[in-house]
Amino acid sequence: MQNPKVLISESDISTRVDELAAQISKDYANKGELVLIGVLKGSFIFLADLSRRLSIPRHIEFIAVSSYEHGSIRSGAVRLVMDVRRSIEGKHVLVVEDIVDTGHTLLYLIDMLKSRNPASVKTCTLLHKAHRTEVDVEIDYLGFNIADEWVVGYGLDYDEKDRTLPYIGVIEPEE
Ligand code: IMP
Ligand code: MG
Repeated sequence: MQNPKVLISESDISTRVDELAAQISKDYANKGELVLIGVLKGSFIFLADLSRRLSIPRHIEFIAVSSYEHGSIRSGAVRLVMDVRRSIEGKHVLVVEDIVDTGHTLLYLIDMLKSRNPASVKTCTLLHKAHRTEVDVEIDYLGFNIADEWVVGYGLDYDEKDRTLPYIGVIEPEE
C-alpha cells in the first residue's frame, strides 16, 4: 500500500490553524471561558493544536458520536456514544469537528447542545465537503473546503487507519 497522496500539507494546516485560533481568540475575547467540545475521534489532533494556540480562557470537553460503521459505509442515524462531563449551561460552546460531510452529525450535535441552555453554540470544522452537505448546518469557522474524496490523516481515518499522518491525504483507489 502506498502512502496517501498529499491534499493539504502539514505547513498549510498549521498556517490555517493559526489563523482560526487568532480569529476565535478575537471573537471570544472578554466573554469568559470558552468550552471547546471535540468530536471524537477525528477531531483530537485538530483540537489539540487549535486549543494550544488560543489566547483566551478555555475548557476542553469531548463528545463521541457514531455515524459510520465500516470505513466509508454509513450506518444510518447519528448516535451519542459519549457525553461531556460538565454542564454547559450558561457557557459559550464551540464544537470542534474534523470534517462536515452530509452535515447530519453536526446538526444533531448543535440541536442537542442548544437544548441545554448554553450562552451560545458555534461550530468549527477543519474540513467541509460542501458538495455533499444535505442539511442546513451553520459552520462558523472553517479550515478548508474540499472535493468529494475520502481523506485521512491529522485525526481522520479510513477504517482506523492513517489517523496519525501529519498531513491530510487522499487514498488512491485500489487497483
Ligand atoms: P456527516 O454526518 O456526514 O457530516 O459525517 C461526519 C463524519 O463522517 C465526520 O465527523 C467523520 O468522522 C466522517 N467522515 C466523513 N467524510 C470523511 C472523510 O473523508 N474521511 C474521514 N472521515 C470522514
Ligand atoms: Mg468527526
